[in-house]
Amino acid sequence: MGIVLKGNVCYSQTINKLRTVENCYLVCEGKYLLGVFKTLPMLYKEFPLADYGDCLIIPGLCDLHVHAPQFAFRGLGMDMELLDWLNTYTFPEESKYIEIDYANKAYGIFTEALKRSATTRACIFATLHTPATMLLMEKLEKSGIVSMVGKVGMDRNCPDILRQVSAEAAYLSTKAWIEDSLDKFERTTPIITPRFIPTCSDELMRGFKKLQAQYSLPVQSHLSENIGEVEWVSELCPSSASYADAYEQFGLFGSEGAPTVMAHCVYCNEKDDELLQKNGVYVAHCPQSNINLASGIAPVRRYLKKGINTGLGSDVAGGCHLSILRAMSDAVGASKLYWRLISEEYEPLTLNEAFYLGTTGGGSFFGKVGKFEPGYEFDALVIDDSTIPTTNPLTLEERLARVIYCSNDSHIIAKYVRGEKLNNEPDK
Ligand code: GUN
Ligand code: FE
Repeated sequence: MGIVLKGNVCYSQTINKLRTVENCYLVCEGKYLLGVFKTLPMLYKEFPLADYGDCLIIPGLCDLHVHAPQFAFRGLGMDMELLDWLNTYTFPEESKYIEIDYANKAYGIFTEALKRSATTRACIFATLHTPATMLLMEKLEKSGIVSMVGKVGMDRNCPDILRQVSAEAAYLSTKAWIEDSLDKFERTTPIITPRFIPTCSDELMRGFKKLQAQYSLPVQSHLSENIGEVEWVSELCPSSASYADAYEQFGLFGSEGAPTVMAHCVYCNEKDDELLQKNGVYVAHCPQSNINLASGIAPVRRYLKKGINTGLGSDVAGGCHLSILRAMSDAVGASKLYWRLISEEYEPLTLNEAFYLGTTGGGSFFGKVGKFEPGYEFDALVIDDSTIPTTNPLTLEERLARVIYCSNDSHIIAKYVRGEKLNNEPDK
């Protein structure tokens, strides 16, 4: 049996085309959308109907880059740039996840917040600790959200307590974790996660490539976020033509059968762009983090012009909000500053383009996800914007714009993932 939702629909058909349909029916069977209809076809009259009246119904949002263990210190430590921030705040916090009780508490808080947020799909970094990472996966599975979770690889340039004792140890523990988690869940799957080049030895990278190929897994990491980091990578990898090439030389920059996502991409050069484009690697644009850590402004317009896959990320705790609605408005704001201050060649993103990035742009990393078209997996948010009142009559497109700029989680009254409505009871 399927379900029918009634309401006002908005989604991106393409990056340049927002489709809005008033008072219509979304028909869904199993995980998939059958279609959007102005009048409900007879065939589906028996399906149970959820009538959401004048609410907006939009696709679920995709967070292509978030660190679960950093949620506990979000909003703190915003006074440093990346490398000092990692050493001063991030690594000490992540080292706490060796304690399973701490992980249980902190990942409980994170998962509840993600469940209440607008996110329906996420690429998530955990830490290197296997028990805590499995616990996070169990919690995410129960939440109903679809996620890819990474046990983080790091074996150099980090505190002893967070350093895998050898590349061999990283390989073996990551392999064991993949085998335990690969078929354990319906919605939660492992993703190969070398933290970034500075913390990963060549041997660790070779081991991770072996695992990626053996299990056909996707890959997530960081690329070209901060000037000091980029200089450090060129010292660490003198034979690489660029930062992206430092991943490419290990076969970890786009692989057959499973996608790769790289967070930030603020300082990519032409060679990096070429590899991103050629290998279909996704850019996870994280504007709030790039502002907080004074990293810079990613040239998203350039990536779009070059046909590079692009989505949005919160990068908590570089970013302090999980909201991908917030990431959309921040992406527009950052692109305006890029255009004004850096290059008039790259015009600002429109709000509809940013909406596309947070839905279909990131959604395609997960398959047919992010739009309301037949055959797509049905992830949706029902938003009651009546509590963002105005005296003006608004079109659906204008209502969506106000939701993106002015809404918070409290306006989401229902959330569907793969055709199922999530319960909003907190997990005990
Ligand atoms: N680069 C390597 N690790 C991190 C991290 O935890 N956050 C961010 N923003 N960049 C990184
Ligand atoms: Fe990050």
